[in-house]
Amino acid sequence: MKNGLEDVVAAETRLSDVDGESGHLIIRGVTLDRLVERATYEDAAALLLDGLLDRPVTAGDLKTRLGRMRSEIFAHVQAADETLLRLPPVDAMRALIARLPDGEDFATALRLLAAPAVFLPAVLRLQRGEAPVAPSPSLSQSADILAMLNASLPSREQVAALDAYLVTISDHGLNASTFASRVIASTRAGLTSSMLAAVSALKGPLHGGAPGPVLDMLDAIGAETNAGNWLAQALDRGERLMGFGHRIYRVRDPRADALKGALKPLVATGQVDHDRIRLAEAVERAALAILKERKPDRPLDVNVEFYTALLLDALNFPRESFTGVFAIGRTVGWIAHAREQALEGRLIRPRSVYVGPLPQAA
Ligand code: ACO
Repeated sequence: MKNGLEDVVAAETRLSDVDGESGHLIIRGVTLDRLVERATYEDAAALLLDGLLDRPVTAGDLKTRLGRMRSEIFAHVQAADETLLRLPPVDAMRALIARLPDGEDFATALRLLAAPAVFLPAVLRLQRGEAPVAPSPSLSQSADILAMLNASLPSREQVAALDAYLVTISDHGLNASTFASRVIASTRAGLTSSMLAAVSALKGPLHGGAPGPVLDMLDAIGAETNAGNWLAQALDRGERLMGFGHRIYRVRDPRADALKGALKPLVATGQVDHDRIRLAEAVERAALAILKERKPDRPLDVNVEFYTALLLDALNFPRESFTGVFAIGRTVGWIAHAREQALEGRLIRPRSVYVGPLPQAA
């Protein structure tokens, strides 16, 4: 029995490859650094989905259809009642997605790609007492998300930064939420069911729930000179440092550098708080030093969540919404894996070893 299924191979995939020893990520034959440099969200989504649905998927067609679908989905925002709006944003978003029909076809996939992009900004606005902003079908998915969130057109740098984020996190091997998606798909339950399971798995702080706590940590540290002491005390209390460590990577998570790079144009144009970035870099240095000293046998480096926190904060997403934004980006990976599983895989049904009491002899 491998606790946490560490190193267990549970699927064959053509979608992405995570090389934890060398720190490389390949998405459908393209290295992450190249993909982030050249692709928009729609390009990456088309790359991942092509050949897995009941019709061909191209980036241009996807942009047009997603725009229209966001407008259709917006009608469902009406279902966000008081009870739903008292939930954390990612739970409210999940509840709205749960109302959508299930299916395995292109139309279902399109609906699921558009749904979190529309529901999350609408829920965030309603929760702060503001009217939701209707989507603009002619915008790209990234530009429209920011427009729906802030009720104003985003800058070119902001759109590029959100595109870079959504592309960077679009797929990542058999992580916990993707595995959940494949398990559900293996029963032939449908894409909406797979996505709901995946969002639920993403919520936990050991997976996609870490970036909010990363900002809490930076706030608590406050100044560069406090970093070493604060981190030492957190580890003394047995806490984990959010944004560090990974099940697969034994070196730096390549997604961290992709996101650090995506922040640069925002920094250069004064659209980011410079002090926050300087503090984050100091905390990163101090954390790497102390983790090396305290856990010499376990290489622990920065992971995707650390720079996710800085990037999404710079784009005005409130920290309680970070997991929901992650879900917007990862949905395409969940759908692609669910389709791959349904097309090529068998029912996922592993075994357990019984270690409980044996029945007493009569
Ligand atoms: N801070 C301090 N110690 C850590 C950290 C950390 N961030 N991560 C791992 N460790 C330590 C553990 O305490 C453990 O030490 P021990 O053997 O002395 O008990 C050792 O490293 C191994 O830890 P495991 O829990 O076995 O490693 P696992 O592969 O299960 O954990 C995980 C990976 C969950 C990401 C872990 O590193 C962690 O909790 N990190 C903080 C949360 C975080 O950043 N999550 C986002 C991950 S990225 C993503 O999912 C999108």
